[in-house]
Amino acid sequence: MLTRRDLLAGVGASVALGAVSAGCDDTSTPMADSGAPPVDGGPPIDMVDFLHGVASGDPLPDRVILWTRVTPRMGVMGTATVRWETSSTPDFATVTGSGTFVTTAARDYTVKVDVAGLTAGTTYYYRFSVGSTRSPVGRTRTAPSGSVDRLRFAVVSCSSFAHGYFHAYRDLAERADLDAVVHLGDYIYEFQNYLYGNVRTYDPPTAVVTLSDYRRRYAHYRRDADLRAAHQQHPFIAIWDDHEFANNAWRDGADNHFPKTEGMWSVRKAAAMQAYFEWMPIREQPDGRIWRRFAFGNLVDLMMLDTRVWGRSMQEVEPSNNPSRALLGADQEQWLLSNVSSTTARWKVIGQQVQIGPIRPDLNADGWEGYPVARTRFLQALATMRSSNVAVLTGDIHSSWAMDIAIDPFTPSAYNPTTGAGSLGVEFITPAITSPGDHPDAVLATLLSQNPHLRWGDPGLRGFYILDCTPERLQASWYLLPAGSIEQRERQRTAFASAWSTLHEANRLSPGGEPAAPRANPPALAPAEPA
Ligand SMILES: [Fe+2]
Repeated sequence: MLTRRDLLAGVGASVALGAVSAGCDDTSTPMADSGAPPVDGGPPIDMVDFLHGVASGDPLPDRVILWTRVTPRMGVMGTATVRWETSSTPDFATVTGSGTFVTTAARDYTVKVDVAGLTAGTTYYYRFSVGSTRSPVGRTRTAPSGSVDRLRFAVVSCSSFAHGYFHAYRDLAERADLDAVVHLGDYIYEFQNYLYGNVRTYDPPTAVVTLSDYRRRYAHYRRDADLRAAHQQHPFIAIWDDHEFANNAWRDGADNHFPKTEGMWSVRKAAAMQAYFEWMPIREQPDGRIWRRFAFGNLVDLMMLDTRVWGRSMQEVEPSNNPSRALLGADQEQWLLSNVSSTTARWKVIGQQVQIGPIRPDLNADGWEGYPVARTRFLQALATMRSSNVAVLTGDIHSSWAMDIAIDPFTPSAYNPTTGAGSLGVEFITPAITSPGDHPDAVLATLLSQNPHLRWGDPGLRGFYILDCTPERLQASWYLLPAGSIEQRERQRTAFASAWSTLHEANRLSPGGEPAAPRANPPALAPAEPA
């Protein structure tokens, strides 16, 4: 979500001449047929590289998605038969599973395997090979089942490559005790160079519109060593937001889509979705939906939503109460409500893109408050179901916030910030990896005073939070980078900023105290890629 003010500010920004995109020398688009022999057609069989690393995602108790991409050294080839292997140790002393996957230019030489028959709550190592060429070793973890006493997730969003370096992703790669990384979208940005950020440049340098463009942009991101490292060490549970398509996308268009010069939205949307499914370690569903549920034993049910392009009506400057305006769409909304009401897991965690709680004096017409009828319907359903232990994980707005969720937090009879009466759950908003916040630091005190449901926030620092889950409480601990650090190529580290919790059946926030300690003796990290 970007306002026109954000973009106009970006247009006027000075251009850092000579700024280069570290390590991003690849364009993934195959060149015209060079006549190179197919990899399966005989020697030379090892004419590929694994330049874009490895990734995994969508962990279930018995299966997980494994991903890689082969880069043909000659630019094109016919088919490539890629072998995958799993092991319980990073040295692959014993191979526990293996198979092959055939990839072609039709899927941009990406490889995606849904490996089944795994053991719940278990760390696995994996690798790919073509001939004698091997990928880096990846590390992943299946979801636990049954009685679960603790889970730890990192929650992230919004990595504008042009704004700086992905130190926050690198920090995640060094944390060995995460169950998964939950990515709430804006994994890529669609802009041309210098429109929004000027620290690093993109490939392609133009706005991405076609399938080839989107593929190249994902390939460009995956040449970033910090992002690759995060994928290498943890399974991701990802959803898209608007910038995987175009700024302020909705079902049938986007603020940053211009049909006269960029063609039909439906064509662009389909291209963006195809590239996303090719490049992201997500389990694909036949109709392109990404809303889905993950069960982590009896402790957490994680429901991931698509508030962006599945059912969303067009944004309005002055949001109306027209009941036909949708944010989720009827089918997804029904699915969400039935899951929230039926699950018996201790915590109902909803991972989604846009803010539910208002932050006055602004009105975010791109968030839930831009769809007031749908928002009220969802929150009233939560109240009617007496559904307890709901936590919403939100991205999109490039700032950190901890909020109580109330239908009307500004009316004392509807919400009491002292007792928590009227609070239906909590919302934890994650900062950006690199994208810039919208509020200056100076307004923070005013925002906190005008919004009684807002308990804590940081308007602009980048980072992530760790969601630590036990039967007694959910704790979100924010880790933030110092101001000015993403412009530095040298390694910068996040530091603990604040923790907020919600206790079992409290349905409201309470100060979280110290961040929960990491797990003792986590499984070994996969060996780092050669520098
Ligand atoms: Fe964003």
